[in-house]
Amino acid sequence: MREQVQELERRRAAARAGGGEKRVAAQHAKGKLTARERLDVLLDPGSFEELDMFVEHNCVDFGMAEQRIPGDGVVTGSGTINGRLVFVFSQDFTVFGGSLSERHAAKICKVMDMAMKVGAPVIGLNDSGGARIQEGVASLGGYAEVFQRNVLASGVVPQLSLIMGPCAGGAVYSPAMTDFIFMVKDSSYMFVTGPDVVKTVTNEVVTQEELGGAVTHTTRSSVADVAFDNDIEALLAARDFIDLLPASNRVEAPERPTEDPWDRIEDSLDTLVPPSANQPYDMHELIRKVVDEGDFFEVQPAHAANILTGFGRIEGRTVGFVANQPTVLAGVLDINASKKAARFVRFCDAFEIPIVTFVDVPGFLPGVAQEHNGIIKHGAKLLFAYAEATVPKITVITRKAYGGAYDVMASKHLRGDLNYAWPTAEIAVMGAKGAVEIIFRGRTPEEIAERTAEYEARFANPFVAASKGFIDEVIQPHATRRRIALGLRKLRGKQLENPWKKHDNIPL
Ligand code: HXC
Repeated sequence: MREQVQELERRRAAARAGGGEKRVAAQHAKGKLTARERLDVLLDPGSFEELDMFVEHNCVDFGMAEQRIPGDGVVTGSGTINGRLVFVFSQDFTVFGGSLSERHAAKICKVMDMAMKVGAPVIGLNDSGGARIQEGVASLGGYAEVFQRNVLASGVVPQLSLIMGPCAGGAVYSPAMTDFIFMVKDSSYMFVTGPDVVKTVTNEVVTQEELGGAVTHTTRSSVADVAFDNDIEALLAARDFIDLLPASNRVEAPERPTEDPWDRIEDSLDTLVPPSANQPYDMHELIRKVVDEGDFFEVQPAHAANILTGFGRIEGRTVGFVANQPTVLAGVLDINASKKAARFVRFCDAFEIPIVTFVDVPGFLPGVAQEHNGIIKHGAKLLFAYAEATVPKITVITRKAYGGAYDVMASKHLRGDLNYAWPTAEIAVMGAKGAVEIIFRGRTPEEIAERTAEYEARFANPFVAASKGFIDEVIQPHATRRRIALGLRKLRGKQLENPWKKHDNIPL
């Protein structure tokens, strides 16, 4: 018996050693943690339970029969984050470059299947040279098995990808189908074809970092959501992030105790909106003053910053925030902002997270580039997302709500449950000057000025909309947290169903 026990320990030690000391040292030299070290940071201490530690590949070509490392380049299993169950896989770059074999894929699929059965998030730590080259099509089949599961799990359990090394070729499509992607600066990249192929095909010279690094994907492409300086920062952020999300679409997000009074009054909000309509102010300030303890986890902070998206809590419960940001492009809705917010709204709706929307929007961005690149179709995404969402929706118009953008931003007409406005709100088809120049074209400057003042007096306030019931109540800015907290309490029992359909046809 003792011998068998020792044999198990010997085998376990061999699996834990991964690709060996030299390769582990090389991993550390790149500033990266190993697959197991990463899990230690991500999960509660001692909570990791490994599965499939002894799985080996089944390849016999290219000398692979003699090269077998238990675990086959990915560490899989489950653990807890702040006591809540999550399923994980962590690719081990020290074993065949973390490349994906048929068996490696089967291990990932096994944890995904379990996560679906029990209703728990899947967190993938990606660090891989891609398809196991020696296995050929078997590896491609493995990828597709994972892709299929990503799609079926979408909207059922949260899926989070951390890119912590190479992620290239078709391998990028698994993370791409998960809900959120975090990347590590300088050590991770994602691209369909790397710099060498790009050079051959298009003659463009570009570095890995420029083509598909963390900064590129969190600013330009929006493929990834947040960039971090190193592995530890990314993993600790993932812990905080998962804590905000429900385990599945069958349960609510966890409630976290807070000392922050639900009816906290914030007098400073009464002067947040500057006297001049063209002067910006930072919408972060409003969000931070409304959420519990000022804690706001922003999603895609570096992309389309004219709209803010992210999670915070009110009375300990998770809320998704969407807010126009007047400091960037005056908070206008453009293609990127519409796509960013639409995806966020759909995530919240899929996982029953209430949505609070702060509106200060001068309209959709005009321009040839916007029109030619499809602002109609992309703007429609946000409209569609809000209109189909059945979760509690609370909207607060702080200043401008002009034109189509008024409708889009969770208006009453799109089944907003509670639509509030601050006294500083201006709800109109467009800004006064633009409106008057159209309806009084050709008049003298004095007359235009007079009519502008008249238009402002009529529409630069929330009361016309309130008189029609489009605004449920004009509220004092300092009471915003209190009103939202009360609203969310009231809406906790909300039931609303869309008509039966196989699925909708959102303008993609
Ligand atoms: C098998 C691989 C591998 C792979 C790396 N290794 N990638 N083994 N299949 N895809 C092995 C190496 O042989 C090496 O083994 C170890 O991993 C570390 O690799 P290095 O090259 O020494 O590391 P580094 O210099 O850091 O370079 C990392 C790398 C490079 C940039 C990822 O390894 C690389 O270019 N690999 C090939 C990438 C690729 O073309 N993959 C296929 C993409 S197509 P030893 O024993 O020396 O430590 C694809 C299609 C997916 O993925 C389609 C899905 C639908």
